[in-house]
Amino acid sequence: MADRRKLAAGNWKMHGVGADLAEVDALAAAVPEPGCEVLLCPPATLIARMAARVAGTAIEVGGQDCHPATAGAHTGDVSAPMLAEAGASHVILGHSERRTDHAETDAGVRVKAEAAMAAGLRAIVCLGETLGEREAGETLSVVGRQLAGSVPSGATAAALVVAYEPVWAIGTGKVPTMDQIAEVHDFLRAELIARFGAEGDGVRLLYGGSVKPSNADEIFAVSNVDGALVGGASLKAADFGAIVTALERAA
Ligand code: 13P
Repeated sequence: MADRRKLAAGNWKMHGVGADLAEVDALAAAVPEPGCEVLLCPPATLIARMAARVAGTAIEVGGQDCHPATAGAHTGDVSAPMLAEAGASHVILGHSERRTDHAETDAGVRVKAEAAMAAGLRAIVCLGETLGEREAGETLSVVGRQLAGSVPSGATAAALVVAYEPVWAIGTGKVPTMDQIAEVHDFLRAELIARFGAEGDGVRLLYGGSVKPSNADEIFAVSNVDGALVGGASLKAADFGAIVTALERAA
């Protein structure tokens, strides 16, 4: 099995103003030398300030989306090189909220991922089924299609992270059973290896959807779970620090 460094990633979504950077200081103090990779993805307005704030700590900073072009007449958008210049090392792409709010497609996510990788960013490509799709027995076909369509052909273990986030588990407090998570993660691992060989074995697979300190240990014990993409519980250093600590225990 490939040596995959565990990753605890926080997605602040559209939360956070300057005052909330105190949580980042508290997180850095709580996990000064984390035994896993720790990433926070704030709104675009905070990336540069957060990056300056975490300088000298182990915490990395990422974006939540990027435009596929380097620059141009795209009002309101931010490009991958701009994120990198602001201090981001990663970018979340194809989150289900963007697939819903902005009608993002697999092909659209793929070109964004290509742009991210060209700019030296690690792309965290998100996928996951709706409740209706799960109940119809379509989970593996949906995530398989999303993986095939959203991940560019040049992906490497260093440049790609995949996050499995069942839409019905996001922000709801509902979590799949550990067997359900294992089924999807084992499937995604096999698909990545089939497409990318050894590089696919090295791609980190994150679980996301209502991860909390109280359920982190059992989730991190699941086969092919290499970390988490955390929403609500990443906003407070006490909660996210506890999740990081749980991941360190599993590493
Ligand atoms: P919650 O952890 O708030 O359920 O959000 C998960 C998520 O969407 C992370 O990207």
